Amino acid sequence: MAFRFDDDATLLTPLMVGDTFAGNRVFMAPLTRSRAQDDGTPSYLAAQYYAQRASAGLVITEATAVSRTANGAYVNTPGIYTDRHQQKWAEITSAVHDEGGRIFMQLWHVGRMGHPDISGVQPVAPSAVAADMTAHTPAGRKPLVVPRALAIEEIPGIVADFRAAARRAVDAGMDGVEIHGANGYLLHQFTSDVVNHRTDAYGGSPENRARLTAEVVEAVVDEIGPGRVGLRISPGNGVGDVREIDPIPTYEALLDRIAPLGIAYLHVSIDPTRTTFGVIRALWPGVFVLNTGRDTGTDFCQLESFAQWGAVSAVSVGRAFLANPDLIDRLVVGAELNEPDVATFYAPGPVGYIDYPTLAELEARKSA
Ligand SMILES: Cc1cc2nc3c(=O)[nH]c(=O)nc-3n(C[C@H](O)[C@H](O)[C@H](O)COP(=O)(O)O)c2cc1C
Repeated sequence: MAFRFDDDATLLTPLMVGDTFAGNRVFMAPLTRSRAQDDGTPSYLAAQYYAQRASAGLVITEATAVSRTANGAYVNTPGIYTDRHQQKWAEITSAVHDEGGRIFMQLWHVGRMGHPDISGVQPVAPSAVAADMTAHTPAGRKPLVVPRALAIEEIPGIVADFRAAARRAVDAGMDGVEIHGANGYLLHQFTSDVVNHRTDAYGGSPENRARLTAEVVEAVVDEIGPGRVGLRISPGNGVGDVREIDPIPTYEALLDRIAPLGIAYLHVSIDPTRTTFGVIRALWPGVFVLNTGRDTGTDFCQLESFAQWGAVSAVSVGRAFLANPDLIDRLVVGAELNEPDVATFYAPGPVGYIDYPTLAELEARKSA
């Protein structure tokens, strides 16, 4: 059933997100679309795709690798570690800005989710523990491999990769970056009390497991300023076979350490009915963006009441934006939404990428 925002809906009001003015509080969640070129340069269609969705309060890009080793969980995912990558991203940011939008790039290291058949390199992780999952390699589905545990001397290099990628992102015109600390990728692998078996300064206690994410946030803040930095976390969501037995102390250690930096936002992917949601919310003094991670991500009625109560500052929406480039317009007038086509989420080419019709296009087709 279609949902229509009231004229005075909180989610339709503007918000300062660090240094960035967001025209509304419905953000586009990061969405991997597997259409990048083979060298990690974004697709030729990506500028059009993102520009179509520029009416989101903030567009958060698909996860974008900070180095070659950081890439390779899926085929054709983009990077931000070469001049060519940066040039194409600059076209994308211009296209979004030309439409009046704002855009942050999600910075990503896949860690043990990488597959050598995709990346050409052995994946790295906090510990030599494989995820019990398969990857879609060019030769079909294959089990993920046992990653190489990072030596402690290599960790500053990982932090430096995030810093350099953030610099490139901003130089390409991004309004900011979102550090991907969620969904089972490298930083989440470090925070987990199940996957991280280290006995050095990056394992063991909550403070130690939170250390790498905190160091990445600190380095990126130092490079581009706190008002241009967001962080995504997904406490206890188990995605990517990264389980957490006792997530709260770890996220408490992380958020206590980074809260004084005054970053632009914290983006939390969590089921809001879980008690962890309330605990994490209470730990964060700044802009708090919720992604429910449920099919009810499009339950805008509930999301609007969260915003009205002040439980969240903004929300992010994934699949509804994927299928509805003019999502905000549709929510304002109470129009039906296009259904996302799962079969083309990660398929190459324009179909299911830049061809979802806007309301105006649907009406033009009807009257033609
Ligand atoms: C096709 C697809 C790709 C995704 N890619 C990413 C990604 O690159 N980074 C990320 O943090 N989350 C990613 N997610 C998770 C979404 O950001 C979001 O949390 C999820 O879709 C739930 O929100 P929704 O119900 O509004 O779609 C992806 C989800 C989908 C469906």
